Amino acid sequence: MSDQPRQTERQIQADGIQAQIDELLGRMTPAEKAGQVTQYFYFRLPAGAAAEPALGMDPDAQPRAVEEALGRGAVGSLLFVTDPAEINRLQRAALAGNRHGIPALFGFDVIHGLRTIFPVPIAMAASWDMETIEQGQAVAAREARAVGIHWAFAPMVDVARDPRWGRIVEGAGEDPFLGAAVAVAQVRGFQGTDYGQEDRIIAGPKHFAGYGAALGGRDYDEVHLSDAELQNTIFPPFKAAVEAGAGNVMTAYMDLNGVPASASRWLFTEVLREGWGFGGFVVSDANAVRNLVTHGFAADLTDAAARAMTAGVDMEMAIQDPAYAHLPEALQAGTAGQDVLDASVRRILEAKLRLGLFGNPYVDEDRAREVLADPRHREVALVAAERSAVLLRNEGNLLPLDPDELASVAVIGPLADSRRDTLGPWVFDFDLSETVSVLDGLRRKVEDRVRVEFAAGIPVVQRVFPSMFDMFGGNRPEDPEDFDAEAEFRRAVDVADGADVAVVVVGEWQNMIGEAASRSSLGLPGRQLELLQAVVGTGTPTVLLVMNGRPLDLRWAAEHVPAILDIWYPGTQGGTAVAKLLFGEVSPSGKLPFSWPRTVGQVPLVYSHTHSHEPQNQGRRYWDEPSTPLFPFGHGLSYGRFSYSDLIVDQPSIPPEGTITVSVQVTNTADRAAAEVVQLYLHQRHGSASRPVRELKGFQRITLSPQASQQVQVRIGPEHRRHWSTTERDWVLDNSIFDLWVGGSSTAELATTFEVTQT
Ligand code: BGC
Repeated sequence: MSDQPRQTERQIQADGIQAQIDELLGRMTPAEKAGQVTQYFYFRLPAGAAAEPALGMDPDAQPRAVEEALGRGAVGSLLFVTDPAEINRLQRAALAGNRHGIPALFGFDVIHGLRTIFPVPIAMAASWDMETIEQGQAVAAREARAVGIHWAFAPMVDVARDPRWGRIVEGAGEDPFLGAAVAVAQVRGFQGTDYGQEDRIIAGPKHFAGYGAALGGRDYDEVHLSDAELQNTIFPPFKAAVEAGAGNVMTAYMDLNGVPASASRWLFTEVLREGWGFGGFVVSDANAVRNLVTHGFAADLTDAAARAMTAGVDMEMAIQDPAYAHLPEALQAGTAGQDVLDASVRRILEAKLRLGLFGNPYVDEDRAREVLADPRHREVALVAAERSAVLLRNEGNLLPLDPDELASVAVIGPLADSRRDTLGPWVFDFDLSETVSVLDGLRRKVEDRVRVEFAAGIPVVQRVFPSMFDMFGGNRPEDPEDFDAEAEFRRAVDVADGADVAVVVVGEWQNMIGEAASRSSLGLPGRQLELLQAVVGTGTPTVLLVMNGRPLDLRWAAEHVPAILDIWYPGTQGGTAVAKLLFGEVSPSGKLPFSWPRTVGQVPLVYSHTHSHEPQNQGRRYWDEPSTPLFPFGHGLSYGRFSYSDLIVDQPSIPPEGTITVSVQVTNTADRAAAEVVQLYLHQRHGSASRPVRELKGFQRITLSPQASQQVQVRIGPEHRRHWSTTERDWVLDNSIFDLWVGGSSTAELATTFEVTQT
């Protein structure tokens, strides 16, 4: 079919949808409309959860209240249900309770997979592989849609520059350019070209905006960001996600520059809708509308509802007692407009109609089982885990290991044998029986050819303050019964001593990272460093695997451990991928999506700082410790060896709207094939604002056979040079000289320049 009839067909469809919505709106009461803009959590907590101080509620009250609201037709959407039979049951209740036959929309945190668990988002970003990221979210969407979930609260596109903030694990790291690319790939993965298609769901980039800059890295704490920082650093991934067609956007919990983000008309109406043309619907973060009262902003729930809705928040996500239930009062008092409420209801009905829910509200439970078991999904997760691992250090080429030269491997550290931790945070519907831990993966790889002996060495470490997520099954780690910490430590060192190589896994337990998981230090929890030191002290060559979602203090390891591979929380297929990487079946190719600080005292630490005063002392800003990163942004080693040459720009001088093409020759001088991420960084020498010393403005992931060479081309257009200038209080394109570097990390040295001039 050519484009013309297809567009006409779409238009007819769109007109039909609007006519249907007009008709429904004409029949709905204010209370029914308030119901449509309300989303409820629905969960049954495990026995004992009621005692959790983090929750502070009666676990039965929540589902009871929701069932009651369903009966009144007062539920627009539900979240947190993943069982297809349960979704069908609740959908039946929604339809039975709604006299207009409006089905409920089901949302969920499909963050890095549903049943097939992918590496955590920060790891996916470390692959710099947009195809794999898109495929991963397409698999997640397929599984989600099969069980009846229509909408993912993802991607989290918050730029995160302070690793104390636990949610750094959910995003793409410190850089807005990489962040924007990853955001687009995820939106495409979830939605395809249209979320109304089979196997697709709505993507909801979050949390608009600034959530990652919480003071002190403390989750939920207030944020203060200048307009320049918001425009140049925080907004780009959101804007890119919106331009990619994201159907939803979620608000953020905290105060932004003194106003709760969830009630900011500037953010949701001026920037998002009027500025970027966002046509989807906005949902609040959980309880964020009610919390306008808690913040000391709204006088009461009616005021909160009126102000959030007027700001542009179409739907409230509520745990209990939604503020939006008070919208009819606000309408009557005249604090919220009928037209505003109608516009919000319209957007939500439009999403339901586009998803085809009116005609087809239920899911086929047998098909759901089949889709969840699809082995092709595990294949994509395996490739993702392989490509996201980052080789931080490889002194003397200790890696890859040669199985023919080894008789025994010691695998040390409790995380090595923890399937639950291998999956990482923000997963609820996993299957541990099909999850491959590091120990499982290594054992399967070498079979009986190499003896693999495991020792945990130390007990699991508990959080000082438990997390609300610990209430969900299996999230709080436990030691085996009769665990004798001292004896186990000695045993681990003996096992390492007697082996040809030691593989030590250190990191954070998965409940130590994610939401409500900020930290005041970046040290390895518990006695992990001591254990590592004792193992290295035996003289056995040691490979360190880091299981993490944020940079940890690896200063000692970076000097004393020859090989360090960051495996993140690698997901369902994690152990298989790790074994393939360690034994050289694939080469590591991930690159860091953040600057890795030496110590917590340095944070926030970004590569894209400005020159400021005395730039020659940039690495000596502290008297007690270098102020440079331990590993720079974009860093990641390989079993290949890449050299860069012949860096050329096609035009030395261009006008402000001009575009150049940059070419570089990349050669793999090693005798094995490997992938490399070619990165391009730009610097503007002078202009209407001081610009960062370097900013990522292009990248390409390429695979090169042994001794092969390839020319890589990157386009640099005005969009790459435009910046929001505090001097002009607007977007500008400065005339200037630009420095440009291309290489395998943000410390690339191969450089050239070009000029942007009016004449
Ligand atoms: C988080 C959101 C999440 C929501 C629903 C909130 O606490 O901030 O990111 O989507 O819960 O689970």
